[in-house]
Amino acid sequence: MSATPSNDPITANLARWEEQVGIHVGSDFYRVKEFLAGETSLDPLILDELGDVAGKRLLHLQCHFGLDTLSLARKGAAVTGLDFSPKAIAAAEALAAQAKLPARFICARVDEAAQRAGTGYDMVFASWGVLMWLPDLRIWAKNIADCLKPGGTFYLAEGHPMLWIFDDEAETADGNYHAVRPYFLEGPQRWENAHDYAEPSVSLTHLESHEWQHTLGEVVTALAEAGLRIDFLHEHDRLVWQGLPCLVREGRYFVAPEGGPRLPLSYSVRARKA
Ligand SMILES: C[S@@+](CC[C@H](N)C(=O)[O-])C[C@H]1O[C@@H](n2cnc3c(N)ncnc32)[C@H](O)[C@@H]1O
Repeated sequence: MSATPSNDPITANLARWEEQVGIHVGSDFYRVKEFLAGETSLDPLILDELGDVAGKRLLHLQCHFGLDTLSLARKGAAVTGLDFSPKAIAAAEALAAQAKLPARFICARVDEAAQRAGTGYDMVFASWGVLMWLPDLRIWAKNIADCLKPGGTFYLAEGHPMLWIFDDEAETADGNYHAVRPYFLEGPQRWENAHDYAEPSVSLTHLESHEWQHTLGEVVTALAEAGLRIDFLHEHDRLVWQGLPCLVREGRYFVAPEGGPRLPLSYSVRARKA
């Protein structure tokens, strides 16, 4: 279906996400059944670092089909989830109704978040697999700053940009990391594959995707330039998905194999509007 390259990377990405929503809702990866039975979809790192959300007005950017958004609603936050995929927003609304949780969902791009989701939020939240879909982090950070009320906080947990340089496809039986790509890359990388990270048994028909490689420095600088003060920037030796073939499961996370080098696999940042 995407044999002809798309002229617009965002449109191509949207078509692929639209296809993935239904697959993800039914996947073991997302554990919707367990969520409906009362489990939280939030991992321990986020639960530990995010702090109390009860009674807070919270905006979740790139909320996918709302699983984390609704887990935050269960913790007492007044949640708004935003995503550019109409199917994701429809699935999020259906899940909220099924779970009997109050939530508002908005179908919009991140670069129109302040205009579409409004301002005055106590918290803005985003996690795991979000920044690579955004061409310009200055616009992202400006929207976050505009959405927050003074004193409001932004929290992000994300895969570490170091991951980009390693071969994520080859079978690395030697347990080592193989650096195959540069850390610094301008513009989007165009990928073409049928693989779905949540449901490997499925072959996607929308093969094309475009990802932007944002360095750690770029993320923090964009937030600072938007007027946010960094509370912390933590690097972690764990990741919620198997970002590299050599990583092994440890509870909710994937970590370096025993004896392998401990590299940063993810990071979290909290920033505050003055
Ligand atoms: C991997 S999910 C991240 C959310 C969460 N960690 C999860 O796994 O459910 C990425 C989400 O970003 C959304 N997305 C991608 N580009 C976007 C954009 N420009 N504006 C708004 N949403 C976008 C996709 O539709 C998708 O739901």
